[in-house]
Amino acid sequence: MCGIVGAVAQRDVIEILLEGLRRLEYRGYDSAGVAVLDAAHQPAPLQRLRRLGKVQALSDAAAEQGLAGGTGIAHTRWATHGEPSEANAHPHVSGDIAVVHNGIIENHEGLRRELQAEGFVFQSQTDTEVIAHLIARETAAGQPLLAAVKAVRKRLEGAYGMVAVNSQTPDRIVVARSGSPLVIGYGIGEHFVASDQLALLPVTRRFAFLEEGDVAEITRQSVEVFDLNDQPVVREARESSVEHDAGDKGEYRHYMLKEIYEQPQAITNTLEGRLLNGQLNLEALGDLSDVDSVQIIACGTSYHAGVTARYWIESLAGVACNVEIASEFRYRQPVIRPNTLLVTISQSGETADTLAALRQARAQGITKTLAICNVPGSSLVRESDMTLLTRAGAEIGVASTKAFTTQLAALLLLTAGLAERRADAAAVQQKIANALATLPGLIQQTLGMNEAIEKLAERFAEKHNALFLGRGDQYPIAMEGALKLKEISYIHAEAYAAGELKHGPLALIDAEMPIVVVAPHNDLVEKLKSNIEEVRARGGELYVFAGESAEISSADNMVVVPVPNCDDLIAPIVYTLPLQLLSYHVAVIKGTDVDQPRNLAKSVTVE
Ligand code: AGP
Repeated sequence: MCGIVGAVAQRDVIEILLEGLRRLEYRGYDSAGVAVLDAAHQPAPLQRLRRLGKVQALSDAAAEQGLAGGTGIAHTRWATHGEPSEANAHPHVSGDIAVVHNGIIENHEGLRRELQAEGFVFQSQTDTEVIAHLIARETAAGQPLLAAVKAVRKRLEGAYGMVAVNSQTPDRIVVARSGSPLVIGYGIGEHFVASDQLALLPVTRRFAFLEEGDVAEITRQSVEVFDLNDQPVVREARESSVEHDAGDKGEYRHYMLKEIYEQPQAITNTLEGRLLNGQLNLEALGDLSDVDSVQIIACGTSYHAGVTARYWIESLAGVACNVEIASEFRYRQPVIRPNTLLVTISQSGETADTLAALRQARAQGITKTLAICNVPGSSLVRESDMTLLTRAGAEIGVASTKAFTTQLAALLLLTAGLAERRADAAAVQQKIANALATLPGLIQQTLGMNEAIEKLAERFAEKHNALFLGRGDQYPIAMEGALKLKEISYIHAEAYAAGELKHGPLALIDAEMPIVVVAPHNDLVEKLKSNIEEVRARGGELYVFAGESAEISSADNMVVVPVPNCDDLIAPIVYTLPLQLLSYHVAVIKGTDVDQPRNLAKSVTVE
């Protein structure tokens, strides 16, 4: 989704801004723009450049035009209001003011009418342009930029992270945060701002995260932050532990493939200190003894992790568990039982719906909240009582891979914690510990299926639809497989609990419909075999990822790909891998943009 970078320095900041945008490219965008000012001159001419398409096009144009300046703001736009076009790209300018903005201004239509009635002329279809005009109206009336932004934010409804410059005062930038993250980067005699610290890692490792409602004025020498009530506040700058080279593809053709192959290490990192010498160490989870039920909230792939965890939490810990998509939860009036633990799951920790659902649950009286999240310092982490970090490392590919499997590993740890009240807690926890201990090795072994799956992928490239089937805790894995295939290969794919086949989807089966089945050797495998036969009898084309000991063999219209035997408990994690690899290879054959699939964003910070 949209990305923001800003800088105020003595040196030319254009390359810092462009490199920042490059590092945010993974989030998904359709256009890019930059505005720079030369702080040595007051007033300084506002130089703005925007391009439809990739940051490289903007970078080439900036070099051609010799764009330079010590103060600047830059943006990658993911269209919400108005088509992807140069006119709709940020920064938006009104008089001396230039603005970049992430999020959505919900009352923009009313504000647009108000400004048009006063003679302001709009150059774009965006909601953001109202912000530029509103600030320009304040500064034209004599307000300094900081006071102007403070006044304007009171008029805005919706979510925003915004950065503004004024060519009359080119030595400063003013930023405001409400619902969309912003982080300030501290250099020596220079300061930066971005929507994600990853953008600024080449120039600094010291970051302060703005809180909801904060406004900050940033110059080369100072950072002054004001809270929602306009009171000065200190947002402490801390050293970041995020890897500098997180944005490097290394030897891999795509980030997605790199991240698939990083899973053995990512899971080892998730378990570090939490699984010691075959024993679980669950101290970090705190006291869960008063938890009578669990409510999980998440979106997309993270939601699939939650659905998988429900099977574990109910069967292993004996605790009632409900799972819901955040965008649904936030707009209904759920009945939340006393002593409910609210668990949010998110790779980014900035997903707008998940954050809103967390706030909604708090407003309804939930007092115990746990975030399972991959980004330390993210909004979700900061707003939750407890955190279980997944430690997958930066995930750049839009398609979530290592974030998902590490979420599942973390959810097994949570299950073990919730099992504490059971009479046989020690046995259940030891069973989980034993299974988790084998996981990194098993994942490594499962990656050995890559070549076989690459061949299989050729059979999918010409297809328009696919069905994914699973039963029990493999049903959410089928859902995840279908999501992966559709998001990066653009093949329409749906998942069904195999038992549901004859209640409708069986009508879809013909020779043109590939059906992918996840079939570990578990207590449901015989039921699943019956479902497989139902499909075969109707001429369906089956691709079965089956446990080595499941006794399912290739036959007419049925390709069976063996998956290493593993403990039932961790089979959902192991069977995720072949499905990730399948969608990856299909997308490569189809020639889609694997890491930045069309219309999608890595971090969905708007509703
Ligand atoms: C999955 O491949 C997608 N990128 C998407 O469904 C993602 O999982 C969802 O947007 C939630 O993101 P989060 O984990 O950062 O909250």
